[in-house]
Amino acid sequence: MSDSTETTTASERAIKQQKPSSLTRSLKTPADEALRLYEHYWPPVEHFEGFDPELTDFMAATPEKQQAILEGLRHDPEAHGRFLHGHLGSIYAHSFGYRDGAFTRHTDDTAEIAQFAAKIALERELFDHWAALGDLPTFTDQTEAANHLDELAATNPGVVHPLFDFIRDEASREQIERFLLCETIRNEVVDDEVALLVVGLQGMMKAVAAANLWDECGRGKLENFHTYWLRRLLEATEDGWNTLDRYRVGHPWFGKLTSNTNAALLTRPARKMMAYGCFLVFESWVEPHFVRILDGMTRVGLLDDEKRIYFTAHVAIDPRHSRELSDGMRMQRPRLAPDEINDIVYGAHLASETGRRQFDRMLGFLRAIPTENAA
Ligand SMILES: [Fe+2]
Ligand SMILES: [Fe+2]
Repeated sequence: MSDSTETTTASERAIKQQKPSSLTRSLKTPADEALRLYEHYWPPVEHFEGFDPELTDFMAATPEKQQAILEGLRHDPEAHGRFLHGHLGSIYAHSFGYRDGAFTRHTDDTAEIAQFAAKIALERELFDHWAALGDLPTFTDQTEAANHLDELAATNPGVVHPLFDFIRDEASREQIERFLLCETIRNEVVDDEVALLVVGLQGMMKAVAAANLWDECGRGKLENFHTYWLRRLLEATEDGWNTLDRYRVGHPWFGKLTSNTNAALLTRPARKMMAYGCFLVFESWVEPHFVRILDGMTRVGLLDDEKRIYFTAHVAIDPRHSRELSDGMRMQRPRLAPDEINDIVYGAHLASETGRRQFDRMLGFLRAIPTENAA
């Protein structure tokens, strides 16, 4: 009798791999503490209560009038950025489907058409005017492009931005606590961002994105959802849930640049490859940023592991996530066409530049917070 593996059929090998459930060890009632934390609606947002009147007017305007409004803002970068990012943020709440979005528990065909038209007009302005990038390198080979992205991931201005040195070396406890609220908002729906990324990919790039999503979802274990670690941070912070609720109302538009840019890429199928490159850069930032955040937390006495787990876990996980994203691109079959490769490269550079702009503004925002014990 020959080795049994030689006689195994393709069907038998498929069944052998997939008959055991991926949930075998996790599909059981979690501990009481986890159940208690899962009583909170996530993301911890309030119900939609109507659009900002300015956005209502914009949605009601003709395309020509919308265009005139946007052109009229271009001379004023602050007003332009606030208009684009404030309103896109409201519209993207709808795209993610939670209760802070406009039509997430009922449909309204006429209003949704107006919202969609406004989304497209705002995104056109975002890409053609707000986020215009200079010349970028071009590639025809996916391996060369992946090597370039590894290099970009390690050297772009967002990696060791002074914001994170400020957090590590100077920020007061109050400033760090405020920054943790910003980070919670920035990361509260990353699992859905990754889920949107999966749609429309194929082959190894899809496998890599899906594996990342499975990690985000705790590989099926409720206590290891990455968002659960944010729940723990809020729970361990004095009046944390209410503090976030109050803070969110005034969360500045420039705290949403990277999230909005990512959503703009993720929600338009033609920009899916750009979203892949964007996400690769986001993942590569995590380790250098979170190491500095943890050092800053240590410096000001935020030592509770409940508050740190989101950051400590990601420091360990995300270098692998970003390597997998570039390896997925190298191994992709069918091989990527030059326009797809250059879309990925564009998305990565867009992420880098957008991150730099956001971190510049956040540094000014945090420095302006009055603190009792300024370091
Ligand atoms: Fe994560
Ligand atoms: Fe990750």
